[in-house]
Amino acid sequence: MTLRVDGDRLLRDLAELAEIGRDPAGGLSRTAFSPADARAREWYAAKCADAGLAVELDGLGNMVAGLPADDAVPAVWSGSHLDTVPQGGAFDGALGAVAALECVRRLAESGRRPRRPVRAVVFSDEEGNYGHLLGSTAMARGFTEAELAAMTGRDGDRLLDALDGFAWARGPRTGPLVDPARLHAFVELHIEQGPHLEQQGTRIGVVTSIVGLSGAEVRFSGRTDHAGTTPMDARRDALQAAARFIAALPGIARDSGPASVVTTGRVRVEPGGANQVPGLVELLLDFRDPDRQTIVAMEQAIAGAAAEAAAACDVTVDWRPEEVTDPVPLDEGNRQLIRRSASDLGLSSTDVPSGAGHDSQNMAKLVPTAMVFVPSRDGRSHSPAEYTADRDVVAGADVLLATLLELADS
Ligand code: GLV
Ligand code: MN
Ligand code: MN
Repeated sequence: MTLRVDGDRLLRDLAELAEIGRDPAGGLSRTAFSPADARAREWYAAKCADAGLAVELDGLGNMVAGLPADDAVPAVWSGSHLDTVPQGGAFDGALGAVAALECVRRLAESGRRPRRPVRAVVFSDEEGNYGHLLGSTAMARGFTEAELAAMTGRDGDRLLDALDGFAWARGPRTGPLVDPARLHAFVELHIEQGPHLEQQGTRIGVVTSIVGLSGAEVRFSGRTDHAGTTPMDARRDALQAAARFIAALPGIARDSGPASVVTTGRVRVEPGGANQVPGLVELLLDFRDPDRQTIVAMEQAIAGAAAEAAAACDVTVDWRPEEVTDPVPLDEGNRQLIRRSASDLGLSSTDVPSGAGHDSQNMAKLVPTAMVFVPSRDGRSHSPAEYTADRDVVAGADVLLATLLELADS
């Protein structure tokens, strides 16, 4: 008989988690290593303890939960993240993290022992408060001490200080944090965050590939002056340069490719007085494409636009690019298993690409990896409007469980 998740328990868990980090300004602000993130970890660890699952922590705060099992048998892992963007929604990351826990818990209580252990994982800082896909990058590739020391958060605080103050990070921080020999496969359940499944009326998305992405910090430095007495042609206005630069970005994305996107999600202006010519502007950029070469070319075009804008406004520019996170195709064998699991459960499925980044793109470097998507209402995400219907939450978790079981018995 097909094992199913306890749908009511899963929905209750998601509702409980959605109360942690509520932001009076709207949505959930459970950014990585914040007090709200710590409360979410506490909540998750308590659920694991209730289910008799042991939780391992690493130095960057990744959590891996499961029944104590023989590590000599490579395990099947599933999971996602508990952190959110500022004023984000209740499903991005939370669904995959809680559904993986439900699958492991359901298996444990069913008494069924597949050949391979199944473990639930929570990755740290998927949303890049300090570094995009931070926890899974640390697992798969590893960071050096110098790289970690240079990382700062949206609020300018140092990652290492944040980790020192975070009770849910313990152990070595450098070098790859997971031994690939421990792993057999990885599967992540996630909301689609886009409109395709809903528009097509399809219940389950089988993810074909995950978009590649990069980013940069751009700093325009001009000269702070009096807003009333400095003639327009004597100014070195950093914000005028930034504005010129930002206005050029949509054209660069259009010229790069049909799926290219570029976003300026954050601008900091100093000193910030209305009666001062701004002397300094810092911008954070995010740019993406399914093709690595296009990302590299886009980065050059964007850097060129920044230099041009700076020259036109007589300011200087400092360009600090992030490393490119490669686009990845997902494992065809695991995709087949997802299609079959969906069909066995009487659910329609279709192939979809992912325009969002996911920890799966790091896990794919270690083991055959696949992702299951469920529909997002109106395709909305990274906003309080994010919503996935109960029946889709449960259907996605059932497909996940069936797929994990197939993999664990193989
Ligand atoms: C994660 O949600 C991302 O795509 O940035
Ligand atoms: Mn997200
Ligand atoms: Mn996510």
